[in-house]
Amino acid sequence: MKKIASICCIGAGYVGGPTMSVIANKCPHIKVTVVDINEKRIKQWNQDDVSKLPVYESGLPEIVKETRGRNLFFSTAIDEAIDEADMIFISVNTPTKTYGKGKGLAADLKYIELCARNIARVAKTDKIVVEKSTLPVRTAEAIKSILHNTGNHVNFEILSNPEFLAEGTAIDDLLDADRVLIGGDDTPSGKEAKNLLSSIYENWLPKERILQTNVWSSELSKLVANAFLAQRVSSINSISALCEKTDANIDEVANAIGYDSRIGPKFLKSSVGFGGSCFQKDILNLVYIAKTFGLNEVADYWEQVIIMNNYQKTRFSDHMISTMFNTVAGKKIVFYGWAFKKDTNDTRESAAIHVADLLMEEQANIVVYDPQVSEERIYMDMDYLGTRSEAENRNLLTVTSDYMEATKDAHAIAILTEWDEFKTYDWAQIHKNMLKPAFVFDGRRILDTKHMKDLGFDFYKIGES
Ligand code: NAD
Ligand code: UDX
Repeated sequence: MKKIASICCIGAGYVGGPTMSVIANKCPHIKVTVVDINEKRIKQWNQDDVSKLPVYESGLPEIVKETRGRNLFFSTAIDEAIDEADMIFISVNTPTKTYGKGKGLAADLKYIELCARNIARVAKTDKIVVEKSTLPVRTAEAIKSILHNTGNHVNFEILSNPEFLAEGTAIDDLLDADRVLIGGDDTPSGKEAKNLLSSIYENWLPKERILQTNVWSSELSKLVANAFLAQRVSSINSISALCEKTDANIDEVANAIGYDSRIGPKFLKSSVGFGGSCFQKDILNLVYIAKTFGLNEVADYWEQVIIMNNYQKTRFSDHMISTMFNTVAGKKIVFYGWAFKKDTNDTRESAAIHVADLLMEEQANIVVYDPQVSEERIYMDMDYLGTRSEAENRNLLTVTSDYMEATKDAHAIAILTEWDEFKTYDWAQIHKNMLKPAFVFDGRRILDTKHMKDLGFDFYKIGES
């Protein structure tokens, strides 16, 4: 079996950056080059101050500091890195299509195709091409077809190696992965390629956790894993609505059902709705694939997970409005949290964006505090919706770095992200700062109901009456 000496990863994002940093760290004998067309991002990956990397992940700065310049490199010289590599990971974004056929459902594969064409154009020696991005089942067929028609007599082996890390815990997830999935052809060269990729992960993971399948099972398993995870969140969120009507408590219900070893305790935390760049996009993609094959019942089944998630976000903002005497016009509402979950600076599909949009439709004045998300990012999120002009967004929403000052004369606080620091705040002082009645809407179930009520708050916690 030949050895892998050089790896290139196309895409220096939330997956490419951390994944390659860990591979380089654990495989000092392999040169790893992460490339991207986004010059600003590459500059950020290369800056001396590792606390300002473009991706905020615990443990990442230390790994980058130790490895960068040794055998880990970030660069915009894409062609050179492809040329030099034995193995090329494609880790570019695959967002939901916003145009044409499959608009609003299918994955947009234009970035993937550009990568495949780039590899086809540049490669002069045999390459193993690894799909790291999440892709619709049978995408490898298209990549194969592009690569095999280059006419430059290079052999390409295509593998699927989806990434299962979750943001906020990316480094731990990579270092101690439940499993690594490698899909490839069952031919002698396909098996060799799978074993070569496996040997990289074997530098730090036990072999039993590295699963080998055919390409299509691997591609599909990634979509299915995310669909199952999101389905659990939507399931528990549907029950949270019922709890609010019946005096049942959603954490008690989750705990009671989670004790059943067939159900298990994880991913049963009721919230204002799941966000993130993956769940919605991957389920929509699954729905689209099912529809393409005429499996409408299958498509409808999974679409319901999204419908329930949208309902949860709307339900939360509707409840805020009705509790505040059916009007929030001109009222100052402080958002604690904008990221889609704690311990990340990522805001893609964050529930906060949608809740803000609905309240701003009612002319509320939103003040956002998030410990990691920039003002620029928050305005980009709002402007991207296209609901109102950029000027109106800046008029109705402001961003602050002072969580305490923000509460002065506020009518309400809404907790949209479960950042640990929110639990440690001086809530008695916050109560003094606010107009009365002082409303707190806990969309993440992080504050103690009795304590908040004792302090005098009108306190609402999702999943509790
Ligand atoms: P991202 O948007 O953070 O990063 C993608 C990067 O690819 C961007 O920096 C972009 O500039 C670059 N890029 C796009 N086209 C390029 C091209 N032709 N050449 C060079 N660079 C190019 O995306 P991400 O969150 O890292 O996700 C990447 C893939 O991994 C997606 O398919 C996603 O579904 C999947 N995934 C994401 C996560 C997650 O937690 N974010 C987890 C598992 C899987
Ligand atoms: C997810 C998958 O977990 C990961 O395996 C895949 O590789 C990428 O997509 P990520 O989106 O980063 O990861 O975070 P995750 O922890 O799954 O949370 C997704 C959303 O669900 C967040 O908004 C989170 O707050 C929410 N969530 C999660 C809940 O509301 N309740 C839960 O019990 C769990």
